[in-house]
Amino acid sequence: MNILILGSGGREHSLAWAIQQNPKCDRLIVAPGNAGIAQMCETADINILDGDAVATFAEENTIDFVIVGPEAPLAAGVADRLRDAGLLVFGPSKAAAALEASKSFTKAICDAANAPTSAYGHFTDADAARAYIRAQGAPIVVKADGLAAGKGVIVAVTEDEALAAVDDMFDGSFGDAGAEVVIEEFMEGEEASFFVLCDGKTVLPIGTAQDHKCVGDGDTGPNTGGMGAYSPAPVMTDAVTQKALTEIVQPCMDEMTKRGTPFEGVLFVGLMIKDGQPRLVEYNVRFGDPECQTLMMRMGGQVLDLLQACAEHRLADCKVHWANDHAITIVMAANGYPGDYIKGSVINNLDALPEDSKNMVFHAGTGTKDGKIFATGGRVLAVTARGDNLSEARDRAYAMTKEIDWPEGFYRSDIGWRAL
Ligand code: GLY
Repeated sequence: MNILILGSGGREHSLAWAIQQNPKCDRLIVAPGNAGIAQMCETADINILDGDAVATFAEENTIDFVIVGPEAPLAAGVADRLRDAGLLVFGPSKAAAALEASKSFTKAICDAANAPTSAYGHFTDADAARAYIRAQGAPIVVKADGLAAGKGVIVAVTEDEALAAVDDMFDGSFGDAGAEVVIEEFMEGEEASFFVLCDGKTVLPIGTAQDHKCVGDGDTGPNTGGMGAYSPAPVMTDAVTQKALTEIVQPCMDEMTKRGTPFEGVLFVGLMIKDGQPRLVEYNVRFGDPECQTLMMRMGGQVLDLLQACAEHRLADCKVHWANDHAITIVMAANGYPGDYIKGSVINNLDALPEDSKNMVFHAGTGTKDGKIFATGGRVLAVTARGDNLSEARDRAYAMTKEIDWPEGFYRSDIGWRAL
């Protein structure tokens, strides 16, 4: 099978690494990929937001299966364009990707499905949004309705912060994404990420994880895309998982199908759990990054069979084979991230690190020049390890980070603290 993966992050590196272990994988191309991906398979420099360009590339390279990694091409309708071209695709349609691309859409689906989530208001007008904040008080959460590259959520501790966030959004700080805002009740509890495959009918759980969004140790400092993650998430007990499935995920998926826009792909279910009761924080329509790195480390090559079965609407026949193991990933980021950071610093000694079923450095933002690996982004490496328990996995991952010679990078020293 010839497989094309779209994306360039640690998520796509880990997907490629797991998929390449499956004997069904003949040829693997990642577009555009990164330096780490280029060490293990072919990469191709195509614009993944351009459905016509991806379809032409897929036809020219006799691709059998396209896996879409990030949300932007999904929201742009690339999966629809590829399906129209007769390709087998893993990733939801543009209409179903609205579960991530529009916060108010997701709230409306939850309302229709009676799925537990926070109380909210949806506004296209700043004065009405301000009045709602004054009536509700703080803490309160202000969200840009559209895709804002992980930056459109402000957890406001005071009313003034919430009012300022509304002003920012309507003044255009978040571009079109902030033309509408959703203002939500602040939910207390413990957050977890729950991943399910859905083929429009069957929902198949494929794992849980928890990530660390704040940049600093002790969960302090500004929000990031995620500074590390571990799987499984202990808070996702069997009882909580069952409730999340029956009260939230399945009714929402049924509602999508009822509307004629079935969700087909991986659903990243962000949950807040308090007193054993999960409530929906958000949906994303792709694997989380860096959560995916921990899931792929645990699932290995079987993931290709599962993604293919999902795309072929055969999930009802599938089972996930889990080892009783744990995985953790430590993100190494460029100094200054998530603020301004310098690109282009050289990373040394990666070649000396082990690459096997228990140790892997996935690249998130890297390039090569003169035979050297250098940083091209904010989050640059995801140092990932597996073990019989979380502390074994954690020790293994931190041992690898210490071998990496990159003075211009940093990482949190307490990934996994909550579970450990
Ligand atoms: N780690 C959070 C995300 O992928 O959105």
